Amino acid sequence: MKNQWKTSHQNIQNWYKCHGRVDLPWRTTDDPYHIYLSEIMLQQTQVKTVLERYYFPFLKRFPTLKALGDAPLDDVLKMWEGLGYYNRAKNLHKTAKIVDVLPSNIDELIALPGIGKNTAHAVATFAFKQPVPIMEANVKRILCRLHKLSTPTDKMLWQIAYDLVDTKNPFDYNQAMMDIGATLCTPKNPQCEDCPLNEVCQGKDDPTLYPTKKKRKVPTREQYIMISVYNNKLSLTQRSGKFLHGLWGFSSTEVPLCASEYIGEVTHAYTHFKLICKVYVYDELDKGQAHYFTIQQIRKLAISKVDEKIVKLYLDTI
Ligand code: ADE
Repeated sequence: MKNQWKTSHQNIQNWYKCHGRVDLPWRTTDDPYHIYLSEIMLQQTQVKTVLERYYFPFLKRFPTLKALGDAPLDDVLKMWEGLGYYNRAKNLHKTAKIVDVLPSNIDELIALPGIGKNTAHAVATFAFKQPVPIMEANVKRILCRLHKLSTPTDKMLWQIAYDLVDTKNPFDYNQAMMDIGATLCTPKNPQCEDCPLNEVCQGKDDPTLYPTKKKRKVPTREQYIMISVYNNKLSLTQRSGKFLHGLWGFSSTEVPLCASEYIGEVTHAYTHFKLICKVYVYDELDKGQAHYFTIQQIRKLAISKVDEKIVKLYLDTI
């Protein structure tokens, strides 16, 4: 360990004991499966959502990796419903089919479906207490500010992270770094006065300059959604393409059918595009639609957020 970081490590450990979110359930367990699950759920989702709605019900339904691997994919997707980014659930399921026990080795972890470099490091340090750093978005921001880096490469950041990690207590250090990023070293209005890294932070005079924000304009996609209603049942199909594969959803068409009635639009922001769905209903049996469901049956299917919004729009109009 570099000597210059000794005081900082002590400051970080002290800060974590007083201000860290030490009671989060994935921080008070040493079950690698529970930790792995939390890391996957937390990849694109806030702590609050995972904690309040998904983590415990998922573990109740699939208490072990083996139970997860033995379950049908539809059941896994149903427990994931609303969390979005469904590839995460599919990869969890694939991994559970490959291993009953997670490896502790970073390269072996990365070889499993859906486990990238950061998740492998998180599992290695949180489940297996290895002296390695993690690199999620909050930690990246801290490292950029610490060293006044505007546009660092991932390689540079990992190098810095390895130099900085507290090898004596990597678990608390890594959890603390995430909490510092989430509560103090925030993108806007960081609270530098309260930060345990204040003394060594080179960017503290103008922290929001680091890193440089990438401006990304996402394209808009427009779709016509056709809901065929027959005997109070709605038509849904199971998606087979790459997008939202395995989930049930309403069909889209290039142009609305003449006989259909427009009921409104729903929008949804995905990472790479904004989706606008113009929703039409027609009251006839669509022979091309193999599956019709009552609203109660739809509630038991795994459907995407957009399709959930479409069901709500439909119910609001009848
Ligand atoms: N985000 C990713 N991993 C996390 C963790 N262990 N605690 C809180 N937020 C996280």
